[in-house]
Amino acid sequence: MNVKPTTTLATSTSPDGETIVLQEHDGHHFLKIGGVPLMSTTAASSEQTMAELACEPSEKAQRVLIGGLGFGFTLRKVLELVSEDSEIVVAELLQELIDWNRDYLGEVNGRLLDDSRVSVQLKDVFKIMQGGERYDVILLDVDNSPDPLVQKGNARLYKRRGLEIARAALRPRGRVVYWSAHPDPGFVKSLKQVFSKVEAIPAKAYPKAKRYTHTLFLALR
Ligand SMILES: C[S@@+](CC[C@H](N)C(=O)[O-])C[C@H]1O[C@@H](n2cnc3c(N)ncnc32)[C@H](O)[C@@H]1O
Repeated sequence: MNVKPTTTLATSTSPDGETIVLQEHDGHHFLKIGGVPLMSTTAASSEQTMAELACEPSEKAQRVLIGGLGFGFTLRKVLELVSEDSEIVVAELLQELIDWNRDYLGEVNGRLLDDSRVSVQLKDVFKIMQGGERYDVILLDVDNSPDPLVQKGNARLYKRRGLEIARAALRPRGRVVYWSAHPDPGFVKSLKQVFSKVEAIPAKAYPKAKRYTHTLFLALR
């Protein structure tokens, strides 16, 4: 039997002190934090769907905030949908993810960070949303949200104040999408207290998946 090897491409430590590992196996890339799989190139459908739910394919310039970068599937889909004069701010907590996208992941989604519409900020997306800038679209895929979390510090994003901060960072008619590993009816209730319209949309992990294992929460300002 020919067992394909798993290669560790890079390792680092998260702000919570957990080991972050980027691995390659059989042509696919995998990211784990503290041994917990955070994402892989085998399952990226829901990351793309979240962009399709919120970004209008339009000639009109849009300002989009993405948190975080991950492997860039959401960013790539946003770039396909928005106009040439749109602006996309990507908030990424970990320098390693930015470096690894440039060093190892170019073959996965292309050199997205070189697109002139994109600016990457090494910063917590929560802080960027508090910074006074307004966006037409905010796409939040930072964790296995809202619970259990990979980065403990992300809990505030899903609490009432975090939701209000996201709403305040939206332009009129703006929309936010939260990626989640769970349907989480409690989170829908919380969203409804802050946003004018809320939808929980089941999403597939990969195109041929039989089940909808993830949930995308779409909320309108
Ligand atoms: C699941 S991945 C995102 C996947 C991405 N949607 C894609 O298409 O590849 C989560 C990313 O968010 C980053 N992250 C986690 N917490 C963050 C935060 N508070 N602000 C910004 N980035 C964060 C992680 O380092 C990681 O790169």
